[in-house]
Amino acid sequence: MPALVLLGAQWGDEGKGKATDLLGGSVDYVVRYQGGNNAGHTVVVGDQKYALHLLPSGILSPGCTPVIGNGVVVDPSVLLSELSGLQERGVDTSKLLVSGNAHLITSYHATLDKTTERFLGKRRIGTTGRGIGPSYADKINRVGIRVQDLFDESILMQKIEAALDFKNQVLAKLYNRRAISPQQVAEELLGYAEQIKGYVADTTLILNDAIDAGKVVLFEGGQGTLLDVDHGTYPFVTSSNPTAGGACTGAGVGPTKINRVIGILKAYTTRVGAGPFPTELFDDDGEALRTIGGEFGVTTGRNRRCGWFDAVIARYATRVNGLTDFFLTKLDVLTGWEQIPVCVAYEIEGERTTELPYNQSDFHHAKPVYEYLPGWSEDITKAKTFADLPKNAQAYVKALEEMSGAPISAIGVGPGRDETIEINSFL
Ligand code: GDP
Ligand code: IMO
Ligand code: MG
Repeated sequence: MPALVLLGAQWGDEGKGKATDLLGGSVDYVVRYQGGNNAGHTVVVGDQKYALHLLPSGILSPGCTPVIGNGVVVDPSVLLSELSGLQERGVDTSKLLVSGNAHLITSYHATLDKTTERFLGKRRIGTTGRGIGPSYADKINRVGIRVQDLFDESILMQKIEAALDFKNQVLAKLYNRRAISPQQVAEELLGYAEQIKGYVADTTLILNDAIDAGKVVLFEGGQGTLLDVDHGTYPFVTSSNPTAGGACTGAGVGPTKINRVIGILKAYTTRVGAGPFPTELFDDDGEALRTIGGEFGVTTGRNRRCGWFDAVIARYATRVNGLTDFFLTKLDVLTGWEQIPVCVAYEIEGERTTELPYNQSDFHHAKPVYEYLPGWSEDITKAKTFADLPKNAQAYVKALEEMSGAPISAIGVGPGRDETIEINSFL
């Protein structure tokens, strides 16, 4: 099983970090292929808790080579501080590889991200403010700065000037802000160059060679399917492709090389930031899911919006990603409810649909149609096999599997590595 993609099937924060870390011990490479430090992946190893933003979760597995692919946007200051934070805790980070083609997030991208959000007012996206959108916009506009530019001072200067030419006009004339000095940006970036140089590599070549040699490569998505710029709830999305195809473009590996696509699926639903969310709860149940599930953002500390499981979304994730498996997480959080509502369809202006509407206004108006499944009260955090689960928990998992369109091959019953029920092996 040489190449697998592991990605979020909902709006992010499904538990991708834990799932990646769990497989990390048996994987040779873990590759981030999109996004940047907008991600927040919590990994619990024994009594240690790690919060990763830019680095692949595989960095915590000693035998594994972590890779930042060409599709990622890299804030060099975050990269270095995350690395030193891990080094101080005794984690070996020396194997990290960073694509020279990955684009940089500079201080002006973060400034523009925050300024644009303020300017949008109540129409804002609720971004993480990390400069993700503006950096990807520069990439598409062909005025981006790449990791490899750090090592050629004259090219770097030319590119920063080209990028700031237009932006400074916008900042000064539209947003009434001070123009940014290209020299200052160049100085800051050059200050990182020496420390980053040793990690930079032709990651596309290395990964293709590794797959050809039968090594196991895991592509770790950030964010989730419904935050995808093409397939998500646009414009309330991130600026990259977390969906499975993004792994190919974001790492330089052809689709014929990928054998398995695993969707990480929370047993209920959460979302951070603005945008439609049909099963969102505004009552005590929503508050209970947030408190029991610890649904507070790892990156921005914001409360996550919480709601019941949405099978329409899960089926959509199966379709647009070609999912072969699901990893169902946080089943333990649902312990204690007498009955658990599951959204099986939407009602849109009196019409019932079981598919995600492609029209954004329809999705905004979608009302969830619920089925009510019987709950359980037994503690499930020690369950090691499917048979250890109470009958109603088993039935809940089986019902979700049937509705979602791909087998549930693992179940999370707690945040720790060992709090997982494996049903089918991923490798
Ligand atoms: P990611 O962004 O997809 O990696 O997810 P986050 O790390 O942002 O959020 C998932 C949270 O749930 C983290 O705090 C994990 O430690 C935790 N978690 C993951 N799987 C489980 C599980 O099965 N049960 C419980 N209770 N917590 C889990
Ligand atoms: P992980 O990898 C949840 C959301 C933001 C905002 C939108 C755009 O931890 O699952 P951006 O800063 O990317 O331009 O913000 O996307 N968002 C996430 N929500 N989990 C994430 O990452 C997210 N990364 C971005 O809240 O609504
Ligand atoms: Mg997260």
